[in-house]
Amino acid sequence: MCREGGCGACVVTLSNNDPVTGNKQCRAVNSCLLPLLSCHGSEITTVEGIGNKKDGYHPVQSQLADMNGSQCGYCSPGMVMSMYSLLQKNSGAGVTMKEIESSLGGNICRCTGYRPIMDAFKTFAKDAPQELKSRCVDVEDLGNAICPKTGSACQGHCESNGLAKVVDGEIFKMGNWYRPESLEQLMALLSSFGREVKYRLVAGNTGTGVYKDDGPYDVYVDINKIGDLYQVSKESPLIIGGGINLTVMQETLSSIGSTNPDYWYAVTLAEHIEKIGSVPVRNAGSIAGNLMMKHGHREFPSDLFIVLETVGAKITIISCKREIQQLTLEQFLETDMNGQIILHVTLPPLSTDHIIKTFKIMPRSCNAHAYINAGFCAKISRQENIRIVGKPTIIFGGIRTSLVHAIETENFLADKFLDDEMTFQNALKMLDQELCPEEHLLNPDSDYLKTVAQGLFYKFVLTIIGDKAAPEFRSGALNLERKMMSGKQDYDTDSKEWPVNQPTIKVEARAQCSGEAKYIDDIPVCSDELFGVFVLSTVANCYIDQIDASDALKIDGVVAFLEAKSIKTDNLFVFAQGAFDSQNNEEVFCSGKVLYAGQSLGLIVASSQSIAARAAKLVRITYKDHQKPVLTIKEAMKNPERTMIHAAFGPPNVFDAGDVQGGFSSSETVIEGEFEIGTQYHFYMETLVAVCVPVEDGMNIYCSTQDQDAVQNAVARCLKLHKAQVNVETRRLGGSYGGKISRSTLVATACAIAAYELSKPVRISLDLDSNMALVGGRLPYYCQYKAGTDKDGVIQAVDMKIVSDCGGNFNEGTAFFAASFAKNCYAAKSWKFTPFLAKTDTPSNTYCRAPGTTQGIAIIENLIEHLAKIRQEDPLEFRLKNLNTSGNEEANSMRKIIDEVRRSSEFDKRLGEIKEFNSNNRWKKRGINLLPMVYPVESFPFRYNVLVAIHHEGGSVAVSHGGIECGQGINTKVTQVVARELGIDISLISVKPTNTLTNTNGSVTGGSVTSEMNCYAAMKACQDLKNRMLPIKEKLPDASWSELVEQCFNSNIDLTARHYYTSDDKVRGYIIHGATVSEVEVDVLTGEKLLRRVDILEDAGQSLSPLIDIGQIEGAFVMGVGLWTSEKITYDPHTGQKLSRGTWNYKPPVNSDIPMDFRITMLKNAAHPNGILRSKATGEPPLCMSVSVLFALRSAVDAARSDAGNPGWYRMDGPATIDKLHKMMLTNSAQYLFQ
Ligand SMILES: Cc1cc2nc3c(=O)[nH]c(=O)nc-3n(C[C@H](O)[C@H](O)[C@H](O)COP(=O)(O)OP(=O)(O)OC[C@H]3O[C@@H](n4cnc5c(N)ncnc54)[C@H](O)[C@@H]3O)c2cc1C
Ligand code: FES
Ligand code: FES
Repeated sequence: MCREGGCGACVVTLSNNDPVTGNKQCRAVNSCLLPLLSCHGSEITTVEGIGNKKDGYHPVQSQLADMNGSQCGYCSPGMVMSMYSLLQKNSGAGVTMKEIESSLGGNICRCTGYRPIMDAFKTFAKDAPQELKSRCVDVEDLGNAICPKTGSACQGHCESNGLAKVVDGEIFKMGNWYRPESLEQLMALLSSFGREVKYRLVAGNTGTGVYKDDGPYDVYVDINKIGDLYQVSKESPLIIGGGINLTVMQETLSSIGSTNPDYWYAVTLAEHIEKIGSVPVRNAGSIAGNLMMKHGHREFPSDLFIVLETVGAKITIISCKREIQQLTLEQFLETDMNGQIILHVTLPPLSTDHIIKTFKIMPRSCNAHAYINAGFCAKISRQENIRIVGKPTIIFGGIRTSLVHAIETENFLADKFLDDEMTFQNALKMLDQELCPEEHLLNPDSDYLKTVAQGLFYKFVLTIIGDKAAPEFRSGALNLERKMMSGKQDYDTDSKEWPVNQPTIKVEARAQCSGEAKYIDDIPVCSDELFGVFVLSTVANCYIDQIDASDALKIDGVVAFLEAKSIKTDNLFVFAQGAFDSQNNEEVFCSGKVLYAGQSLGLIVASSQSIAARAAKLVRITYKDHQKPVLTIKEAMKNPERTMIHAAFGPPNVFDAGDVQGGFSSSETVIEGEFEIGTQYHFYMETLVAVCVPVEDGMNIYCSTQDQDAVQNAVARCLKLHKAQVNVETRRLGGSYGGKISRSTLVATACAIAAYELSKPVRISLDLDSNMALVGGRLPYYCQYKAGTDKDGVIQAVDMKIVSDCGGNFNEGTAFFAASFAKNCYAAKSWKFTPFLAKTDTPSNTYCRAPGTTQGIAIIENLIEHLAKIRQEDPLEFRLKNLNTSGNEEANSMRKIIDEVRRSSEFDKRLGEIKEFNSNNRWKKRGINLLPMVYPVESFPFRYNVLVAIHHEGGSVAVSHGGIECGQGINTKVTQVVARELGIDISLISVKPTNTLTNTNGSVTGGSVTSEMNCYAAMKACQDLKNRMLPIKEKLPDASWSELVEQCFNSNIDLTARHYYTSDDKVRGYIIHGATVSEVEVDVLTGEKLLRRVDILEDAGQSLSPLIDIGQIEGAFVMGVGLWTSEKITYDPHTGQKLSRGTWNYKPPVNSDIPMDFRITMLKNAAHPNGILRSKATGEPPLCMSVSVLFALRSAVDAARSDAGNPGWYRMDGPATIDKLHKMMLTNSAQYLFQ
């Protein structure tokens, strides 16, 4: 998906022979970084190769499916193969739960929240608790992959099919790809090139995932067969070959560290290496490759460089003239490496008098590059207090390109007493002078870098001085400790209602876990199909001067360049006053005024994806009349043309009640403040994709969309076809979360225009980088508020201006939703919420899971926290005091939910423990928060068709419903309802892809309620069928289902029924209540955080499908954790370009970011008379509660600020990234004390 090694969706198992021992080795690798030619002689096992429907599923596949670990399924093959590879690698020894958790750190899943995936795989662990183990097959029975050639279990080797081998002399050669098999051959080859040939040595090739624009190269030299690069000598000194991958290096260091006293420190290095990238990256990435990346890109924060330099390792290189040199790492950086090969690294033995510590501070818990990394080493004499013997080593990465050693500080500390606080303070001052961090837009600011770098040095010193530091400071020496993740899911189920309300496995889960499930891009390519790649603007707020595609068009295989002025069709994909509250037209290809960087300017169409991508880069664009882009709401608000009151669905909406001015006059406490919430990229794993095929009566469109009607509409209008001539079909989506509503129409229309203009099938499948540049995400928010309470703390008045940033136009503003949710569960005598829209020069934003509702609840809860703080009241008691109790029994059940979660989570006890912890620890702080949520679902203003067709000869049933399966489990829920209504087994039911013929005039899939409404329509259609069948049934009361169907068929009864759900069905609304308790811990010296525990209690009515709903709750909550803590988008202030594109710079949560202890309860005995089949929606409300994590962080930060002497109110916006948390905790080096 990402094609840069950052998401894990492409993981496969690579098996080959160790170039030294010849032993077979198996490992997970990212196939997106693996050149095909480097696989020669290796075996690659993909998910399809280990099991399938026909031959049986592999236990890893079935376990993931059966334990609900697959929602949209797009990540599932990668997850399966990561686990499968781990099991293969450790087939003799077995695996531990910890190994399983770490092996999944490189696999992103946006749907599930990871818990079920980890639980599913931990059933294979030798140390799994009995409860998990009992849910697993015997590990011995795991079996091997299925051989696609023989159809039986893989024997571990294959006869070569005689891949063409072109030999040039002795060296394997194919085109510009060489594969020498010895060092001699390699040196001869390199010397034959001469300086002018630009070559690349290919070891793991993972470097291309980081530095994608290096090259192009004339020649590639695969060095994986050169045994000399893979030698390890475990004697003293320890020598490790440059070709050795980081996993093997880590394992070697771990083992030698525990056996060889000269290398006691190796375990520390191994632990740091485990923080590099992910398991598949480390399995492929080599030592030499990593060091060469540092050599070529001095700013690269190489962790390997840090750990090796910390212990004074040396690098041995050999030139193609066979000259060998041993270099320090700093000398290596200055050496011309053309024609040189890294042979090995040598690590010195060190006595146990040394203290060594290394650190890596990164934007999320794992699979991320370092913001700062550091290594410290000092020889200590403890005979004479704590004296440093000679010079210590103090090195940093990520601070400044030219900085490796803090030389001045090292010199200063030589032979000094480290337990002398004055000496330490002077060293800190020297560091302050010496560090001079460079500012980089994507990195934290220089204050953070410097303070944290000093803080890491403080941590090192605290480690050395131990109990010479005051007890409250000692926690500074420790890192946050993440324990094994555990989860609990609690719900009731009534077997009388089954199969509805039955915990059921997703109907397509196994197909998803085996690669059998097909997504749009899996549709086979037609023989004459063409591929489109967008040309995107790189500058915002300007006009196109010229677009010159002449160079691109010269490339063989390029068929056309389409742009606004060249196309004969219309050029709009969103229409003013169209669906989704759109106020402005949006163009498919920009016709002049460039609204934002990333806007589509045209489309290159070529005979292959790679040709189109290459050609798109050659299109030259010049811009004119460029003005500084407006990138924030606050800037936009300075210009009246860029803001307006949100008039969603009618006249401007202002939500008000009571006398607000009077309320403020009678208030004793009045506060005013601001609160901002950032954007969030949807991060659907399947990017936007469309395949358009011209057909005799119009156009067939296969498109990753949540809204087929919008696609059909836009394409029909563009191509001037009747809507009935446009046929849209979607089987499933690899995640969507709102991001495939209006934005998918852009890709579909561009693709349809190309197909129409060229009369050929055309496919557009975006890469992650373009996807992130082209489309916006969740709308950022800004809120200005004022609130007052009486002397008892009862809220009298609230006035809030709530502004949402629509991006480049006024479409899809969600401020209306925010304002309508902004009361949450609270009473106020008077209030006024005014929703505004703002227009900035950023990509058009769009709905994102729980749009507006998330921000509305966050905004009021922030205000509540503010009032409680100013009044010095306990936040929970303040909330309880202001709960709205004026409604009916249902509306008033919030209190019950709060009391329940307060009790079940032992909130009060833990609050006491946290206070105690915080008073004993200056450098670690914990925080806890209980957040209530009211989520009213008042109406269901959507339309969906459900068609149920019973087939004679067996009575099987086909269903086509109007929702799009995007992981939310709609197919499963509809299946359960149909099975129940018709009284048949689920296995008889088959859900078909959604299309615009069976679901004509259907609504978008979204708003959490699509599943319910389709279940309702399915129920009605089934009831209709049952009524038709009743006369026959009465005649044949004992007939089996298939006999009954056959008889109906023979009696000419129409066995196909359809129900069109609309608001005329008068399904009544309900209120969803929920409450969440979050507990966190922060490291005050670095800003790092840990989610210790989360308890969610949610009312899901009588769940239609409890396992599915638990999955929705966990997944939505974890998506929210990303919104509030790590997902940050940065723009270039001059061009307006979105810089945080791709997995290297954008950080959704990974498995180790989720709560360490994650407990979900769905309220018991909660059947609701209004809900469809007594259920309630679950897809979005939990995301609204995720802001609880932000307030838990606030309570931890409060504790740090109190220690820093500033306990008052402060602003805490979202996302609270580690650098922002650090800043809020007011940490500075003057506080780095011993006593
Ligand atoms: C998703 C991802 C996350 C990552 N995270 C981190 C991280 O957190 N910390 C970190 O430090 N690194 C990180 N990396 C970098 C990773 O460690 C390197 O990509 C890897 O070690 C490079 O090794 P390779 O064998 O794949 O090199 P290749 O990509 O094959 O080669 C890289 C360069 O090294 C040269 N080269 C290779 N071998 C030799 C040799 N023997 N002699 C001379 N030149 C040689 C090649 O010519 C090329 O220029 C990450 C990478 C990815 C893709
Ligand atoms: S890691 Fe290969 S596609 Fe993302
Ligand atoms: S199931 Fe993991 S990304 Fe959808």
